[in-house]
Amino acid sequence: MIKTIKITELKVGMYINLPTSWRAHPFLRNSFTITSNKQIQKLADYGIKEVNIDEIKGLPSNASIKEVEEPEKDFSQDYKVVAEKLHEVLTDKKIEPAKRAEAIHLRTADMMKNLWENPSPEKIGQFKKSVVGIVDLVLSEDATNSYLLNITSYDYDTYIHSVNVGVLAISLAKVILKKENKHDMNALGAGFFLHDLGKIHIDEAIINKPGKLTDEEMAIMRRHPGMGFNLLLETKQISEESKLIVLQHHERYNGLGYPKKLRGEEIHIYARICSVADVFDALVSKRPYKSQLNHFEALRLMKNEMIEHFHKDVFEKFVMLFK
Ligand SMILES: [Fe+2]
Repeated sequence: MIKTIKITELKVGMYINLPTSWRAHPFLRNSFTITSNKQIQKLADYGIKEVNIDEIKGLPSNASIKEVEEPEKDFSQDYKVVAEKLHEVLTDKKIEPAKRAEAIHLRTADMMKNLWENPSPEKIGQFKKSVVGIVDLVLSEDATNSYLLNITSYDYDTYIHSVNVGVLAISLAKVILKKENKHDMNALGAGFFLHDLGKIHIDEAIINKPGKLTDEEMAIMRRHPGMGFNLLLETKQISEESKLIVLQHHERYNGLGYPKKLRGEEIHIYARICSVADVFDALVSKRPYKSQLNHFEALRLMKNEMIEHFHKDVFEKFVMLFK
């Protein structure tokens, strides 16, 4: 029997039926059993006030919360679901490019979020397999990729930023490295998507601070390339060169970056590509403490005020992506 209840009455163990549009709620499935209070909080955060529950498939509306224990979270199972959802939109070429790009973007961000919760070497290996489809799309489907490149209207979060940088950097690598066959674009793509993985060890209060970081906070923030690199050391799925993306993406061409103050060609070309995409996405993203720039304004600022941070040829080819 279907019953409508207030979100405050929803409990672990109840089976809910959500609206069928994926825009209407934050979950991958529309109907499922609530397995944690976090899910209930997520629905409330999304502004959902009432839900339909199926009292045959799950607990009835008058169930006592004390009778219900939260089951252990099965990360690998969750990951399968998000990876399948991404695979669906990557392979369904009947969807028009703009909508498909939006769905791919959203599903990839879901996958990043899932990976962030538990970045085991096994899961990073699975992630690399999922990235293959996105890399293929960027390399071969110009229409959808052009929409993907232009999705910047989202509020900033680490997952969305990782997807944006991944797509931008693969597109740039395609132009810069296209004549050379020696590059494993899939490993490279995984490196771009995972460039900020080390931030899982940084306090969210620092990552999301709405203002300038103190010297001490900045010192902590500057550890994320090294910590991300260390996380990847254990995985054999990502090539050694692609791991350098994570370690060197904040190095600057003029030697004023971090963590090692590398200069010019000392910085691996993969990391030089990633740094341009990374800075651009930071400029065009919405953040509470700064105004959001459009593509043109961001590129102009990079050219006029930051050009010494980048490899000239890499930056010029990046600009051409938007012509
Ligand atoms: Fe970073």
